[in-house]
Amino acid sequence: MSVPAGEPIIELAGISKTFGDRDGRVVAVDKVGLRIGRGEFVTLVGPSGCGKSTLFNIAAGLADPDPGGEIRFAGTRRAGRDLLGKVSFMPQRDLLLPWRRVIDNAILALEVEGMRRADARRKAGAMLPEFGLAGFERHYPHQLSGGMRQRVALIRTFLFERDLMLLDEPFGALDALTRTMMQRWLLDVWQRHRRSILFITHDIEEAIFLGDRVVVMTARPGRIKLDVPVALPRPRPAHVATSAEFLRIKTKLLDAIEEESMKSFMAAGA
Ligand SMILES: Nc1ncnc2c1ncn2[C@@H]1O[C@H](COP(=O)(O)OP(=O)(O)OP(=O)(O)O)[C@@H](O)[C@H]1O
Ligand SMILES: [Mg+2]
Repeated sequence: MSVPAGEPIIELAGISKTFGDRDGRVVAVDKVGLRIGRGEFVTLVGPSGCGKSTLFNIAAGLADPDPGGEIRFAGTRRAGRDLLGKVSFMPQRDLLLPWRRVIDNAILALEVEGMRRADARRKAGAMLPEFGLAGFERHYPHQLSGGMRQRVALIRTFLFERDLMLLDEPFGALDALTRTMMQRWLLDVWQRHRRSILFITHDIEEAIFLGDRVVVMTARPGRIKLDVPVALPRPRPAHVATSAEFLRIKTKLLDAIEEESMKSFMAAGA
């Protein structure tokens, strides 16, 4: 499948974010430009602290960028906070409410939208089998494995049906085997639901395996360093990771990330 052409779902241009005051300013993100096409799956990697979650917060409408940048969503110019409610997102921590059962954690966004609880539960309940959670609707988060908790958070994100979905290291806490299963499962779900996705990860192989494009950020202040198309067929079999094209992309990304990680390491020691 090729990268979809046409109008992007979101387009960020010249987006910066500075934290702090005059005594201690941190430029987290510096003039970032990023477009995500409709139906496109974009993965974002970069050294720790380079501003990935900051960019995520801006794209989700949770934080305003510094003045001067431009955000277009579905072709319309928007102020940062206007995006809240237009985009579905799963933050870096899963944020399940420990006192709510699986089903009631899953419907949180629908309730906030004003849907009746019974209707929301019916809708979420129908999705549990697809997310590997059949029979667990009355369990509490502490009774679930890490992978199951993340799937509950993902159902919540999917149920908030928006054209753009932002996922901040959704599989970060998982063991390698569960993670591989979740990646296959997410691709499968994505191919059926056809949302645009921005997926943040530290795992380069995951970024290549999932993405139509892999975007690499520099060490802080975060800028876009590389934007690499992934010309691998879909659906992607597991053995695609041993193909020459996969290894070529991986080498290119590893070189770029190593260079940036060294920079942030040196800066921290200076
Ligand atoms: N609310 C905030 N107030 C002040 N500084 C912040 C805030 N949020 C982030 N920062 C700073 O901005 C920089 C980027 O942080 P961010 O969380 O975006 O990085 P990241 O790339 O997501 O890192 P990681 O890979 O570890 O999740 C860091 O230096 C961080 O300390
Ligand atoms: Mg982060």
